[in-house]
Amino acid sequence: MSNGCSCENPLVPRIVKVVDIIEETPDVKTFHVTTDEGIPFRVMPGQLAMVSMLPVGEGMFSVSWQAEDHLEFAIRRVGVLTDAMHEVWPGQQWGIRGPYGNGFPVEKCKGKNMLFVAGGIGLAPLRSFIKYCFLHRQDYGRIDILYGARSYADLCFKRELFEEWPAQPDTTVYTTIDRAEEGWNGHVGFVPTYLEEIGPQPSGTVAVICGPPIMIKLALKSMEKLGFEDEQVITTLEARMKCGIGKCGRCNIGSEFICLDGPVFDLAQLRRLPPEW
Ligand code: FES
Repeated sequence: MSNGCSCENPLVPRIVKVVDIIEETPDVKTFHVTTDEGIPFRVMPGQLAMVSMLPVGEGMFSVSWQAEDHLEFAIRRVGVLTDAMHEVWPGQQWGIRGPYGNGFPVEKCKGKNMLFVAGGIGLAPLRSFIKYCFLHRQDYGRIDILYGARSYADLCFKRELFEEWPAQPDTTVYTTIDRAEEGWNGHVGFVPTYLEEIGPQPSGTVAVICGPPIMIKLALKSMEKLGFEDEQVITTLEARMKCGIGKCGRCNIGSEFICLDGPVFDLAQLRRLPPEW
């Protein structure tokens, strides 16, 4: 699959400006970045970019959407770099290079029903694929989205989740939070359990899963119970992406480099790797 990159050298950072910031949850913000000439490079759903903020450092983040004129990154506050990123205001400049990773198999999934299963910030990479499916609605069958977080406050992309996506044709959005709380009338419970309750039909369906490692592991088991074949289940190990170019040696599983062959794999491919994922 072509990554659609229009930049000259993916190792050379482009200077981008933060043009908008959206508070998603108490610890997640979405940053819109662009250049005076438009988006710094084109990405496919599931690809990542190295974002740098001087003098703090740089980190690999999935692109949660490529809009017409900007890229979007939903970034959770987890350390020094992301703490600093959460303090920026529109107009500040970052460096960005990429894209990295193979991305989701958008072509191979054409004609299929799509089941997206996400937990927490794991919806960020899936969001790019979900929005891509809506943009090319005629190419995909039913779309079911199951998303969970610790609490209502921790659910990302609320406007899309509760307003825009449920209004799409042949689409159902299921949301759940881990523990009951006042004012929440929706489902309560963990994502894998809810997945089994919903009981999606495997026939003609591709499932795409992303979230915390434990959620992914349990959701993969649930998919097996529900009768999904390994080839019908896709996940991304994007959290392992560090340098993205096979140099740092921090992403390998056995002899495989996640950054060079992934981070998107189907379950059949994952089962051929040592069981460290
Ligand atoms: S991310 Fe550095 S070697 Fe793969």
